[in-house]
Amino acid sequence: MTRYLITSALPYINGVKHLGTLVGSLLSADVYARFRRAQGFETLAICATDEHGSTTELAAAEAHMDVRAFCDLQYTMQKASGDGFALDWDHFGRSSSRANHELTQHFARLLWKNGHLETRTTKQVYSNADKRFLSDRYVIGTCPHCGYDRARGDQCENCTRVLDPVDLIDPRSALSGSRDIEIRDSTHLFLKQSAFVPKLREWIGGHTQDWPPLVTSIANKWLDEGLKDRGITRDVEWGVPVPDDIADGALKGKVFYVWFDAPIEYIGATREWAEANGKGEAWRDWWFGDAAKDVVYCQFMGKDNVPFHTVGFPVTIMGSGEPWKLVDRLKGFNWLNFEGGKFSTSQQRGVFMDSALEILPADYWRYWLMANAPETSDANFTWEQFAAQLNKDLADVLGNFVNRVTKFCAARFEGCVPSEGSYGAEEDTLIGELDGRVAALAALFEAMEFRKAMAELRAIFVAGNEYLTRAAPWTAIKTDRARAAAAVRMGLNLVHLFGHLAWPVMPTAARRIHESIQDAAEVIPWPDEPMAEFLDDLEYGLQIRVPQVLFQKIADEQVESWKRRFGGADGA
Ligand code: MF3
Ligand code: ZN
Repeated sequence: MTRYLITSALPYINGVKHLGTLVGSLLSADVYARFRRAQGFETLAICATDEHGSTTELAAAEAHMDVRAFCDLQYTMQKASGDGFALDWDHFGRSSSRANHELTQHFARLLWKNGHLETRTTKQVYSNADKRFLSDRYVIGTCPHCGYDRARGDQCENCTRVLDPVDLIDPRSALSGSRDIEIRDSTHLFLKQSAFVPKLREWIGGHTQDWPPLVTSIANKWLDEGLKDRGITRDVEWGVPVPDDIADGALKGKVFYVWFDAPIEYIGATREWAEANGKGEAWRDWWFGDAAKDVVYCQFMGKDNVPFHTVGFPVTIMGSGEPWKLVDRLKGFNWLNFEGGKFSTSQQRGVFMDSALEILPADYWRYWLMANAPETSDANFTWEQFAAQLNKDLADVLGNFVNRVTKFCAARFEGCVPSEGSYGAEEDTLIGELDGRVAALAALFEAMEFRKAMAELRAIFVAGNEYLTRAAPWTAIKTDRARAAAAVRMGLNLVHLFGHLAWPVMPTAARRIHESIQDAAEVIPWPDEPMAEFLDDLEYGLQIRVPQVLFQKIADEQVESWKRRFGGADGA
């Protein structure tokens, strides 16, 4: 039987993530993993913090903290907000782990041994005041093309031309502002990627059917533009050290570039999972050789990450010459915007995971994000549309349905599944419709088409409501108690069904819905029986409970206050 290995692009360690990162990697991976688990497949959901590099060093310095202590703290915070969002990882690791150090060095040694690495001497900016090499974007100066005086060493923000720090006029350190900088030679390891182009083309070409066009087009664009060899080491301290046995120690004191070690942490975190759970070498069975033949490996990420996963990481794997698993299904997302502009971590623009949970439970966000996932194009978050959609889909349609049925059952049938009456034409029509819709929903989850999946889920809730309106047990009971009983029985079975179908996307609400009928297992299984069976499955006489309000309606005043707090369309 197929096993599913599922990874989310690893969130950078610095700072709590915003909704854009959540939808494009963390949440989508979780929904997919839950769906596969619900179907009964063995799944392993892996994530970790992406910790290394100069950005982390500088963020730690800004926080006046030692870099390791800074990462420890941020890791704890990210883990907590992941838990708050019910991201059900089998393991949430850290790219600074020993497992990742060892694996990163292992891959580098193989690449070196196989002749895919070479040393090159490059010119780099060194700041005497800061006592460190400055990466390109930490050098600022005047743009030689347009004269803009705060151009960054990697790119001029004014004229968008790509730059080299040595091009800048009057260069200075972005850290201290010091002009006491010089160009020094520095030796680095380069990965000779160009040799892999034919192999990459063949591999990517084999996925035109099962990867979204967004992904294959980005990947091919990179290849078409000519693949440059890639520097995989840096002059920083916080990273995986280059071992001495590579290039006779010429890289002493340097570390691997964060984009080299981070994807290896997908494997590293799997090893951390095995170590944390006393599973010994079981991590290898998910990744290596014949033991992993039955594994379908699925990755989730935003579009900026696609090149590193279709080219960078695969070159590391291919170049190792060892049979590590390459990604099978790669789901990439466009951007989610916030009130017409970009989410920005540096400017703290938008809604971030911790503050999101201060204003509404995770399930509201989870549903909205999946229903509006930026799949075929960018998507936009606005407070008005957010509130309107949740009020309608969750409060008016789903919540109200559960409430109506259970309350009426409590009032007129002693809160028990009625045994009288039998299903007729009305029920048969509904069963036929739901057989089609539930199968369509499963197919959409399988295809990772989340936005369409949510539209189908909503249509299923609506079908239930419409049925209930037609069957109108509150009217029927006046003249035909058996007819009313059959409708209530169907209604309760529908509540039960909704609890099952909603679980991958709204695990907490789904559990409450399910538990209004009967206790639920830890993983609420996907219904694979025909609807005629599932919708007549509840034991007659079973005692049910009326749940507390499932979804509170969002009031206009709340929308106004959130806009003030987070900044609405006009910024703020
Ligand atoms: N930290 C990166 C980002 O947020 C993603 C790293 S994915 C990995 O863009 F593969 F490198 F782990
Ligand atoms: Zn310029």
